[in-house]
Amino acid sequence: MTIKSTTTQTGTPVASDEHSLTVGTEGATALHDVYLVEKLAQFNRERIPERIVHAKGGGAHGVFEVTGDVSAYTRAAVFAPGTTTETLQRFSSVAGEQGSPDTWRDVRGFSVKFYTSEGNYDIVGNNTPVFFIRDGIKFPDFIHSQKRLPGSGLRDATMQWDFWTLSPESAHQVTYLMGDRGLPRSWREMPGFGSHTYQWINAAGERFWVKYHFTSNQGNIEMEGSEAELIAGADADYYRRDLFDAIDAGNFPSWDVSVQIMPYDDAKAYRFNPFDITKVWPHADYPLVKVGTHTLNRNPENFFAEIEQAAFSPANFVPGIAASPDKMLMARIFSYPDAQRYRVGTNFNQLPVNAAKAPVNNYSQDGAARYHFNATDVPNYAPNSLGGPVADPQAATDGSWENDGELVRAAAQLRSEDSDFGQAGTLYREVYDDAAKARFLDTITGAISGVERPEVTERAIAYWTSVDADLGVKLRANLATWAEADLLAEAAAGYAAL
Ligand code: HEM
Repeated sequence: MTIKSTTTQTGTPVASDEHSLTVGTEGATALHDVYLVEKLAQFNRERIPERIVHAKGGGAHGVFEVTGDVSAYTRAAVFAPGTTTETLQRFSSVAGEQGSPDTWRDVRGFSVKFYTSEGNYDIVGNNTPVFFIRDGIKFPDFIHSQKRLPGSGLRDATMQWDFWTLSPESAHQVTYLMGDRGLPRSWREMPGFGSHTYQWINAAGERFWVKYHFTSNQGNIEMEGSEAELIAGADADYYRRDLFDAIDAGNFPSWDVSVQIMPYDDAKAYRFNPFDITKVWPHADYPLVKVGTHTLNRNPENFFAEIEQAAFSPANFVPGIAASPDKMLMARIFSYPDAQRYRVGTNFNQLPVNAAKAPVNNYSQDGAARYHFNATDVPNYAPNSLGGPVADPQAATDGSWENDGELVRAAAQLRSEDSDFGQAGTLYREVYDDAAKARFLDTITGAISGVERPEVTERAIAYWTSVDADLGVKLRANLATWAEADLLAEAAAGYAAL
């Protein structure tokens, strides 16, 4: 093996990686030790801001293979029968920071980037089909309440429950979060959802509303709270390691990808707002239609370059796929590329992991760390008479829907089944079996026990009573028993201290 010489960033050989340049062996360090200065300066700049949410995660490269035929619903090349597309997937936790334990109870992010022949298409979803809020203007407040107090820097049950109970639209998602779905055994053994309603457009221009489902071929397997707590202490990177080791061993995880498809006109009179991300569409109304299979088969060679700098965005659509009138989705379409310009840099889309495999032609130029630029014979303005790229209205899909009315700041009009608590109650009563219900009760009791303002505890009991009256009764009783046990334990500790 030939050993290469160490060089500066500009390729000049350096004399030592172990000794700074000093005046004699005991003397002052020389500022003109160019390599020492460069090495320390470069080190100081290794970190970029972590993602404002979903900071802790991991991921891998993969492939998406279309096995079904959904060409009647979308003309997107990525979903055309027989198509195979390279992908990148990142999994994450929402609230924790970069180093936080993977097994803290949380919703898990589920992001997939498809490097399609028509440009990058990203599905940036979660392992739950719904979300905590339904208007993007609440997102910063929601995230503040789940992260840390500005003063102590501590997480705080009181503010979490204060926010949730004052935002009753959160009930469905909190029922998922406090249930088994909040603690998957691994990223491989959990489902994924696009969560929002998206628009598909077929070759004839007909429109449909769709929801994406990723069903794990490893099964949905969860872990007990006590096990998750132990692992959180012993191995903070438990999920990241599990994914890396599985792929390294050739044990490639895969997910079947399906959609629920709602005909365009159904949305107008459906019994609840089908664009409300706090709701699921019953499968009895809109069954799953299989599109293909997504398999992860290659670990990153460099975590920072391929996972940390990866930029997933709900703004990345391709012809045949577009947005819907979901207020959350529209806020996200602004938010992600904005975050990435700040977090990674103006030209983040030129980095290999984010670069489209399809040709990129436009009139943007310059900016920090620009690497690719247009050939000198391409003008830098449009319109031009010099043969530069021309926009093609036929090639693109902006997606559209009828809209009228005044500009307002108001919730969508309620339909007959637009209750905040209805689907949460169904999830608790009809999906959770008795053992899951018992675990759920213990989890919410534990979480609410940390609340330090009695009026917030009362609101939390009312919130769960609205989900299910019997659950509310059990919660009140459980909270009292736990508080009594705590008092007894405190008293015992007091005696022991005497
Ligand atoms: C209006 C509401 C929301 C806003 C403003 C928002 C904003 C953000 C921002 C700024 C990031 C960091 C992006 C980056 O630095 O690369 C992010 C990451 C993420 N968000 Fe959201 N988010 C919202 C709602 C949602 C919803 C509803 C979901 C899932 C259904 C979701 C899933 C994710 C995931 C999975 C990531 C991590 C992406 C990755 O793996 O790099 N977010 N979000």
